[in-house]
Amino acid sequence: MNYDEIFPKIVSHCKEYGFIFPSSEIYDGLGATYDYAQLGVELKNNIKTAWWKTMVQMNENVVGLDSAILMHPTVWKASGHVDAFNDPMIDNKDSKKRYRADVLIEEYLDKLNAKSLKETEKRAKKEGWEADNENYQGFLKNNRDAKKAQAVYEKFVKVLEDNDLEGMRDIIVENEIACPESGSRNWSDVRQFNLMFKTQLGATADGSFDVYLRPETAQGIFVNFSNVLKTSRQKIPFGIAQIGKAFRNEIIARQFIFRMREFEQMEMQYFIKPGTQKEWFAHWKAARMRFHLALGLPQEKLQYHEHEKLAHYADAAEDIQFRFPFGFKEMEGIHSRTDFDLNKHQEFSGKKLQYFDVEENKNYVPYVIETSVGLDRTFLAHLCNAYQEEMAPTADGGQEERVVLKLHPLLAPYKVAILPLVKKEGMPEIGRQIFDELKYDYLCTYDEKDAIGRRYRRQDCIGTPFCVTIDTQTLEDNTVTIRDRDTMKQERVAISDLRAIVAAKLDWRNMLS
Ligand code: GAP
Repeated sequence: MNYDEIFPKIVSHCKEYGFIFPSSEIYDGLGATYDYAQLGVELKNNIKTAWWKTMVQMNENVVGLDSAILMHPTVWKASGHVDAFNDPMIDNKDSKKRYRADVLIEEYLDKLNAKSLKETEKRAKKEGWEADNENYQGFLKNNRDAKKAQAVYEKFVKVLEDNDLEGMRDIIVENEIACPESGSRNWSDVRQFNLMFKTQLGATADGSFDVYLRPETAQGIFVNFSNVLKTSRQKIPFGIAQIGKAFRNEIIARQFIFRMREFEQMEMQYFIKPGTQKEWFAHWKAARMRFHLALGLPQEKLQYHEHEKLAHYADAAEDIQFRFPFGFKEMEGIHSRTDFDLNKHQEFSGKKLQYFDVEENKNYVPYVIETSVGLDRTFLAHLCNAYQEEMAPTADGGQEERVVLKLHPLLAPYKVAILPLVKKEGMPEIGRQIFDELKYDYLCTYDEKDAIGRRYRRQDCIGTPFCVTIDTQTLEDNTVTIRDRDTMKQERVAISDLRAIVAAKLDWRNMLS
């Protein structure tokens, strides 16, 4: 299925089954803000748990933090966000729509590359070339669209490096890039637009001052560096991790929860000895990729992507991209932030943010490796990867289509659905007993309404990995069936063994080791 078909299906599935609702929907919603519904909040919490376990619980030298969203405004001056946290924007004068100029160019490049690939495949079919054949590779690099894409790309990298807004507009005009909404090419100049939301603290006009909603959680970690160092008995290298909301007044907010104005980040700053950043960058880059693989995102849908333009604070940066239905896009950033942030906070606060290294017998400002993953993007990646439509056998020996969310069992909202075959003969009572036995460890759901086949389909749709069915044989020998969501196979087990069986299937050790 292509993007146009699959993505709207995933979005409406989220609403229909209670994963995600548009925010303030009864007032027609608010652009690029969403509410996580009853199942969405469970999936989100399970992703957070997986991240917290991997980063904090399993690393002796990483501790957690939950800092305030509102911070002293000088934090954002020091970090460079007041002056440099901008996106280049451009307005279309006819449609009155506003776009990110760099995104318009990137999308144009994606189109050229897609055309080049299509052309190559057409030619390869005619000539009988395989993809690893040198003629295929040569044609892929040298066809008209590929050459054009390369030339535009080189110019684009240069204007990004030079912060050349006029140059960016020139690329749009020269390549006749049109407004996606109206097709018009009547463009304004490119201007910088600061992404931070401003609000006011204090009640009186003269006593109040401007504060910002944090655009990243990272700064809460930097300003607490000394506090944590003094109180946690950590030595370098050590990390501070936190999960929390961040806010950005995104110019274009599209693709559902991929780019929102209010979102959540899971960030870790790892404080290291200056000079060791290459080695730690490689370490965390590999560790973070392992995390996504362990949670079930497949290798072929993940890739590293080196930044074309480094942020003002970084000396190296790579993204982990996921192949969403709309292409490979950033899910996580791994940044070598040098001593930029701690130095700036020292300078602006006048407080020392240093570490005394006993082995070296000297003070220094540590360097930092940051891992920063979007919780909402991880959520979306899992949903897109898990959503499948496939044929399944029916009770009468036929076939029907089923929608199934093949989420990692540890991420699934409900772990076990408890389903009495009929609403009589004592089956509901046994079901309730099983629910009470499992509810301390797992979020379970109990359902006795509708035919059993329909109930299985509903659990498939929401990704429940195990369905426990109480049937007539249960009344005779105290056994139940446990159905696996993915294979649809049923196994008969003793009720007394159920807890241990489920525990073995849902062991974090299997996933994280
Ligand atoms: N502290 C570094 C930092 O904030 P970033 O690359 O700007 O780096 C990190 O953001 C991650 O946060 C991204 O990889 C992405 O997953 C997520 N993110 C950023 N902006 C977002 C938005 N508007 N909506 C959803 N997620 C976003």
